[in-house]
Amino acid sequence: MSKPIVFVARQIPEVGIELIRPYADVRLHTGHLPPTRDELLAGVSGCQGILSLLSDRIDTEVFEAAGDQLKVVSNFAVGFNNIDLAEASRRGIAVGNTPEVLTDATADIAVSLLLAVSRRLPECIRAVQRREWKTWEPLGWVGLDLQGKTVGIVGMGRIGQAVARRLHGGWQMKVLYTSRQPKLALEEELGAARVSLDDLLRTSDFVSVHLPLAADTEHVIGARELSLMKPQAVLINTARGEIVDQQALEAALRDRKIFGAGLDVCVPEPLAGDSPLRELEHCLILPHVGSATITARNAMAERSAQNLIAGLQGNALPFPVH
Ligand code: DGY
Repeated sequence: MSKPIVFVARQIPEVGIELIRPYADVRLHTGHLPPTRDELLAGVSGCQGILSLLSDRIDTEVFEAAGDQLKVVSNFAVGFNNIDLAEASRRGIAVGNTPEVLTDATADIAVSLLLAVSRRLPECIRAVQRREWKTWEPLGWVGLDLQGKTVGIVGMGRIGQAVARRLHGGWQMKVLYTSRQPKLALEEELGAARVSLDDLLRTSDFVSVHLPLAADTEHVIGARELSLMKPQAVLINTARGEIVDQQALEAALRDRKIFGAGLDVCVPEPLAGDSPLRELEHCLILPHVGSATITARNAMAERSAQNLIAGLQGNALPFPVH
C-alpha cells in the first residue's frame, strides 16, 4: 500500500524527518527561504499532512489546495498564529504545535536581550568594531543595574515563568505579572504579584512580553502603554512582533521615552531594510532566534513529527493546539 504524502515546508533537523519517513513520503521544500505562496499551494496538493513553520500562512486556500484527504497540520513552533484554527476545526483537520521544549531556550534569549540592552552591549560592540574605543572611560557606556529591580512579565505562561525564575533567582528581582488566571504557586515561589497592565508598566524597570498572538493581543503595548513606562525602563519582546505597536515603539525610543528595547520578534520578519529601528543604538534586534539551540530545535523536530504521524494515523495528537 502506498504511503501518505506529507509536505514539509522547510529542512528541519534530520531527527524529525527520519521519524516521519517510515510513515509517509516526505515532500520536502528545500532551500533557505520559505516556500512562496505558489510553492506552498503546489507543495501541499494531494497531501495528508503538512509540517508548517510560523512563516507559512495555513488558511482556507491552503486547505483547498491540499484537498479533502488532508488530516493534520503540525506546526514546527509553539506559536500557531499562522494557522486558521477555526477553519481547520471546521474541516476536521487536527493541528499540533511544539510546547515546552523551547521554553528554556526562549527564556534565555529574553534574559540575554535584557542584559545586553541594559548594559548597552550593542553600543560597546559597535565602538570596538569601528575603532571608536580610545580609553577606559569613567563616563562611557554606563548602563543599568539589575540587582533587586522589578520585572513585569506580560503573560505568565511557561516562558514568562521561566524568565521570572531566572531574574528572581539571579538578581533577586521583584516579579509583577499580568495573566488571565492568577498563578498562585508562582506567587508563593517567587513572591510574584498579579497586577493590572497599567500598574505593571508604571512600576516595572524591565517589561518582558510573553503573550500569544491573537486578535485581542495585537498592539497590547501601544503608544499609551509605552507612555506609562519609566524613562529608564527596558522593553523586551520575544513573543510576536504584532503584540507591540512598532511605530509607537520607534517613537518612544527615538524620543528617549524609555531606556531601550530588545526584540527577538518584529513586523515584518525580517524587518524592513529601511526601518528606523535598525539604526537606533538602544534597540537590539535579533532574527527570531528564541528557540535556536540544538536541543530545542531537535526536540521541536521530534514533537512536530510525532504530531504529524499521530494525525496521519487518525490518532489524538500528543501536542494538540487547543
Ligand atoms: C515559536 O515556536 O513560536 C517561536 O516563535 C519560534 O521557535
